Amino acid sequence: MPIERVGVVGCGLMGSGIAQVVAQAGCQVVVREVSAELIEKGLKSIEKNLQRLVEKGSLSEAQREQTRVRLRGTTSLDELRDSDLVIEAVIEQLPAKKELFATLDKICPQKTIFASNTSSISITDMATATQRPNRFLGLHFFNPVPVMKLVEVIRTISTDPNIFEEVVAFAERLGKTPVRTSDRTGFIVNRLLVPYMLDAIRALEEGVASIEDIDKSMKLGCGHPMGPLTLLDFVGLDTTCYIANVMFDEFKERRFAPPPLLKRMVLAGWHGRKAGRGFYDYTDPQNPRPMELT
Ligand code: CAA
Repeated sequence: MPIERVGVVGCGLMGSGIAQVVAQAGCQVVVREVSAELIEKGLKSIEKNLQRLVEKGSLSEAQREQTRVRLRGTTSLDELRDSDLVIEAVIEQLPAKKELFATLDKICPQKTIFASNTSSISITDMATATQRPNRFLGLHFFNPVPVMKLVEVIRTISTDPNIFEEVVAFAERLGKTPVRTSDRTGFIVNRLLVPYMLDAIRALEEGVASIEDIDKSMKLGCGHPMGPLTLLDFVGLDTTCYIANVMFDEFKERRFAPPPLLKRMVLAGWHGRKAGRGFYDYTDPQNPRPMELT
């Protein structure tokens, strides 16, 4: 059975991007948030992205209209009951995710596949909240979802191989490039990316170079689209610190431990671009200015 009806739980940065690309690919999408305000905010950001695509000529007016028709917002989980696949993109907290999946397990029929967009939490642990560990996997998108080509498809030791391949094919249908990986903390990308970003903070703490020069070096020396400190602000310092803690708990290796500066910045609420400040000050978003941190 092809995946045609998709439920997305969470309409924040990741959830709204996922809902958009799934609707653009031709699926019926119901996206759920906890309040009408959050649904409105999420749908507005999708609308803005679609508008940008129309202006650039990469989406026709008719395609935009079809995408809109396929996409519906709700505050009720019950409306996800007809889904072939539910993708969870809520807050990165294990108890919240387990509670959600336990509720969805009662609402959705046995055929529904459950996927989590988590970047670090164990898929196996989440699957234990349900009676369908064989139909449970990870589907990890990257920010900004409409732009980034990669999707990590994550199997546990319980995931049915046929279900796994069905979801790999679904990711291809979205126009993404799926990679297959297993349930190991950080999967592929964050296993490599998180220690790199943490090392950039350590280099700053140790006075190796300024914020701007660390970023310039990796952009111009390695051809990365963003330097590591800009990327940290983009991903969110709170998110990165959370992932680092989960990875450190799992592996007990220093390279995954959040450096003191990162912890202090998170405590101070300097969460990066979304908070208006992180390693840079975004008072003028077009012209971020490096902060005085050391
Ligand atoms: N939503 C939709 N489209 C967006 C966008 C957004 N938020 N931001 C930029 N774009 C589009 C632009 O419209 C533009 O499209 P066209 O080429 O068709 O015109 C394209 O992306 C390039 O944008 P810009 O020219 O404005 O800027 P840029 O060249 O610097 O690209 C970027 C922006 C794509 C974000 C690029 O800087 C980049 O690739 N950065 C690295 C992003 C990255 O590493 N993401 C992964 C983070 S890790 C993660 O997400 C997982 C995790 O678990 C933590």
